[in-house]
Amino acid sequence: MTTSHRCRVCDSPLLEFLDLGRQPLSDHFRAPEDTGAEFFFHLSVGRCEGCGMVQLMEEVPRERMFHADYPYLSSGSAVMRQHFAEFANRAPTHSSDPFVVELGCNDGVMLRRLAERGVRHLGVEPSGGVADLARAAGVEVWNVFFDEETAAGILRDRGPADVVYAANTLCHIPYVVPVLRGVRELLAPGGVLVFEDPYFGDIVRQSSFDQIYDEHFYLFTGNAVHNLAARCGLELVDVERLGVHGGEVRYTLGRSGEHSPSPAVSALLREERERGLTEPAGLRAFAERVDRIRADLVSLLTRLRDEGARVAGYGATAKSATVLNYCGIGPDLVEYISDTTPAKQARLTPGSGIEVRPPETFTLDYPDYAVLFAWNHAEEIIGKEQGFRDSGGQWIRYVPEVHMS
Ligand code: SAH
Ligand code: TYD
Ligand code: ZN
Repeated sequence: MTTSHRCRVCDSPLLEFLDLGRQPLSDHFRAPEDTGAEFFFHLSVGRCEGCGMVQLMEEVPRERMFHADYPYLSSGSAVMRQHFAEFANRAPTHSSDPFVVELGCNDGVMLRRLAERGVRHLGVEPSGGVADLARAAGVEVWNVFFDEETAAGILRDRGPADVVYAANTLCHIPYVVPVLRGVRELLAPGGVLVFEDPYFGDIVRQSSFDQIYDEHFYLFTGNAVHNLAARCGLELVDVERLGVHGGEVRYTLGRSGEHSPSPAVSALLREERERGLTEPAGLRAFAERVDRIRADLVSLLTRLRDEGARVAGYGATAKSATVLNYCGIGPDLVEYISDTTPAKQARLTPGSGIEVRPPETFTLDYPDYAVLFAWNHAEEIIGKEQGFRDSGGQWIRYVPEVHMS
């Protein structure tokens, strides 16, 4: 493990503004019989005094997070399946025989659509289990980490890419500078890099501190991406706000000078400066709101337990690891967490030791309350679990503040 108090992009000092304490690997669901020592690291966040990039103070080695047993499945949400199908339908391509590369293709949720249409493509996915699922769906995959060397290998073997796409993946990569330099070499003339990740502006607005965990090394802003691009010989040419995962931005980058930036870019950069998004006062206020959420959630769950109410969790998300461990919530306050992911079921949540059970456990015997850890999928989940409310059940949410509905 490396501890750095310098920016991973430009090496300037970091200003720490939020300390979320000792945390486990957010996607490491352990078997109950596994009694070996669990891995922990210190989760705190800083903003670079040079380039403005918001990032973790400490980096977890990539092989600890992304490996054959990585459990997250991109296809686990109907809304996300639709989201990626829409991207596949309108993916910008500039040639008659386009070549599309995706970093972090996971189970092939996006590329399978292109594979079905016979579009030349390649997924790069270091986590072996999900890479196999993508292959089974007809997607071509290299089971490696993407970096500068991989980029050169793809160029050599397959030729230049018209589109390089990465969803919820670039923010996972501390070594993003060599990655972007590799992408720059890989792009065909006029080609673009399109990537989408949780937006720090939305995280601050909703106090959604659970977007911060080991895998989310960077919390991007338009201004920081603009600076990062320039450092790598690229240019930010378009931005689009997305509603998925609690608010994201889709960034489009081209080689410097090849495209003219859209007005949306300057508008976003200006908006961030006007609201003082990464100014110390705003960051301090954000940290205070996070502290308040912890106090409110712990006192609500403690009161419900003392009253004898049954409380379960819904969605064993990576995000929930931050909430549970920061708040010190364990099986005494949350009986179990319902989740559809086979590789998480019958296992314990990292650090907090709450059992994950299949959704039937929830639907066959509704609890009195359910903490919605997958709040980013609220509409989809509350819609399909209408029976829970009909039975008198109440959802507990903690974003943007603790409330029941
Ligand atoms: N794109 C999917 C998956 C996001 S999860 C979606 O939006 O749902 C992040 C994925 O990035 C994981 O599957 C992980 O294995 C992969 N990943 C992590 N580091 C990577 C790297 N250096 N190159 C390519 N993929 C990477
Ligand atoms: P998600 O919020 O997409 O990501 P992360 O783990 O990065 O925070 O995870 C959603 C989790 O919730 C995933 O484990 C699948 C689960 N889930 C359900 O159990 N039921 C559902 O209806 C949906 C949409 C997700
Ligand atoms: Zn920096």
